[in-house]
Amino acid sequence: MQQRYYRITKVLKEGPVSGATICLCKDAAGNTYALKRYKKANMRVSVNEEVGNHHALRQFWGNHLPAIIDWGEDEVPWVVMEAIECPNLLQAIDQQQPGSQAVVSDIFDALLAMWSQTKSANQPISRDPNERADRVADSLKPMFAGLEVHSDDCIIVNGRPLGALSSLLPKMYNDGETTFSVFCHGDPNPENFLVKEGKWWAIDYDRVGLHDWRLSFSHFMGWWESNASHVVGKPTLKRLAKNVVELEYQTRLPKLACHIRCMSENFADRTGRELKDPQWKENMDRYVGTFLLGETRFLEQRGRQDFLLPLIGRGLELLAN
Ligand SMILES: Nc1ncnc2c1ncn2[C@@H]1O[C@H](COP(=O)(O)OP(=O)(O)O)[C@@H](O)[C@H]1O
Ligand SMILES: [Mg+2]
Repeated sequence: MQQRYYRITKVLKEGPVSGATICLCKDAAGNTYALKRYKKANMRVSVNEEVGNHHALRQFWGNHLPAIIDWGEDEVPWVVMEAIECPNLLQAIDQQQPGSQAVVSDIFDALLAMWSQTKSANQPISRDPNERADRVADSLKPMFAGLEVHSDDCIIVNGRPLGALSSLLPKMYNDGETTFSVFCHGDPNPENFLVKEGKWWAIDYDRVGLHDWRLSFSHFMGWWESNASHVVGKPTLKRLAKNVVELEYQTRLPKLACHIRCMSENFADRTGRELKDPQWKENMDRYVGTFLLGETRFLEQRGRQDFLLPLIGRGLELLAN
């Protein structure tokens, strides 16, 4: 087969978390595409599998996926796809783009339609929530050690006593009450949706599969806190007594993001009812709490270091609920 060549014209993003680089490029005929180049060490699945995932998702979200044009499992694995030159949902909301709420509503309808059609009690889920909890727990150990917070310390967050760290962290673990799975994109966070003129596209397919909807949706719910809010003043961590630590912080979520977060809560409630999942709330709090604690790993790459204490505080608070 004849090798195709692409000329890079613009770097869009050096992936802060996945390590992938996304560029605009042109083929010999001058057509523009988006090129994603992966860091092999950070890949959860091969490019072939990711392309297969895109194919599987097309069945539900056919009109909402950029076409995949070409790909290769080379030393630097790559995918060339249709370029959708527009902001992602986080950027659109940050820029107060009109119509963002309608797009979010449309995305919610598409998620629920896919989940309702694929709800199954007999399929194993592809992402074990307890494995994620293990990974987050491992990353928290050196972080708490650095802050000199010990497992027998009682934690107070913004005046609310939450109990000992050693009793809070085990709450990250699911005690086996996931009763059904759904087919899902798997990582529907706001940066994985591109939006333009009332239309939306989903990108990033390495997690596509069978999921606990609450775990998947916790990425959307938690993202506003972890990536769209601002710190007010300076967060503090004080030792009040031998085994008592107090954490104080204040954050502010811009109005539109705040509204979208409210919409997500209403959507989760609606989903809980439609999928007949009455216990969604306590599980969602656990998943969002774990997600926020896990997001502390990426603060440096995102230049959001001042969010360390707010993420810990909010994460622990949700686990305590
Ligand atoms: N097909 C595309 N067209 C235009 N921009 C894209 C495309 N795919 C990705 N991007 C840009 O790159 C960002 C990250 O892409 P993504 O595939 O989610 O990478 P990562 O694995 O780092 O999360 C997106 O938020 C978007 O800004
Ligand atoms: Mg992504």
